[in-house]
Amino acid sequence: MAPDVAALVERRRASFGAGSVLFYDEPLRMVRAEGAYLHASDGRAYLDFYNNVPTVGHCHPKVVEAVRAQIGELNIHSRYLFDVSHDYAEKLLATFPPALSNVVLTCTGSESNDFALRLARKISGGEGIIVTRTAYHGNTAAVTEVSPSSYKNGAPPRHVRMVPAPDPALFGNDVAQGFADAVRAEIAALEADGIRFAGLLVDTIFSSDGVYADPPGFLKPAVEVTRAAGGLFIADEVQPGFGRTGTGMWGFSRHGVVPDIVTMGKPMGNGYPIAGVVTRPEILAAFCADFGYFNTFAGSPAACAAGLAVLEVIEEDGLIANAARVGRHLEARLKRLQARAPITAVRGAGLYIGVEFGTEKGPAPEIAKGLINGLRQHGILIGAAGRYGNVLKIRPPLCVTTGHVDMLVDALEELLT
Ligand SMILES: Cc1ncc(COP(=O)(O)O)c(C=O)c1O
Repeated sequence: MAPDVAALVERRRASFGAGSVLFYDEPLRMVRAEGAYLHASDGRAYLDFYNNVPTVGHCHPKVVEAVRAQIGELNIHSRYLFDVSHDYAEKLLATFPPALSNVVLTCTGSESNDFALRLARKISGGEGIIVTRTAYHGNTAAVTEVSPSSYKNGAPPRHVRMVPAPDPALFGNDVAQGFADAVRAEIAALEADGIRFAGLLVDTIFSSDGVYADPPGFLKPAVEVTRAAGGLFIADEVQPGFGRTGTGMWGFSRHGVVPDIVTMGKPMGNGYPIAGVVTRPEILAAFCADFGYFNTFAGSPAACAAGLAVLEVIEEDGLIANAARVGRHLEARLKRLQARAPITAVRGAGLYIGVEFGTEKGPAPEIAKGLINGLRQHGILIGAAGRYGNVLKIRPPLCVTTGHVDMLVDALEELLT
């Protein structure tokens, strides 16, 4: 390990203790970033296929300048009027179906999901939440309970029930029906235990479950089952939101459903902490009749300036169309590679693709792990997901080019064949 890196690892362990998690056996010390690249202290530029926070490109000059200018002029909490919050809220809400016309700003995806759980429980009068088996929705006490992937020991409490990921390998050709039946069975199980159902919470690209996107529309029957049982449908857009799927701004729109509550985070400020919840006014009003909600740093002028700049860059740089075009190229190349490698599935939408590895013995997380380390040697950063950790999660910034994805697939080809 380079001496500068070793010294920082030592300091990190001393200060941050057991809570410190670092990527790679020999961690990378990052010094700056631009576009699709991170520059490390080893003098190399690393292509960022891990991403999903600075999705319009690292240190995008428009976002940087918007925050710099705003923070130098006025940055206060949200109990005063300031213009940028209205410009931002109106532009953001215009990307949603008309019924979803109120937004509550927070600072993190976890806070958004925490608030969404409170809304669903208030409206339904229930407590029970259904999530997928390897879901991650955040880190508050309540949200950890609905994040089965966070449990190293034990399992979520009784009011949280799990359904399998919407995997064609499990449900066959009718994923929609299979997934809806699984939700129905868990609603019945909750009720048999005397727990009233409050809602279904899913990440609409099922990222931590291993990326499941197809066929578009498969969520619809599960949402109908949820509503028929008095529950609310919460769409977690922290991962697929802001154009990543290449078909509009939101993952849920690929499924032809209008959620009751939508939660957002990560890409919303391109690295500036801004997150939020969008819902129908009557849902928010019912909650606010019982509780106040104030979040000191949320919706500050600087946060709104960052959010507004991100929306403008997505439009001006044509990033949704780019996600669709580059994503198609990536998927096609990966499917060609599949014929010559131990790849059991290539799936996803736009610039969110999962590549699943397996052998005749079953899921092969060791292949995914080997590739993560091997790609690092090729100057490419990437991660894995899925119940068995055997799905390579391809999630670059939306500004990547076909040249960038060719670099990834060429490296994969070399490592795998
Ligand atoms: C789907 C999903 N929801 C919520 C969160 C929580 O967001 P945050 O880390 O901003 O609290 C994450 C974070 O990884 C996520 O992937």
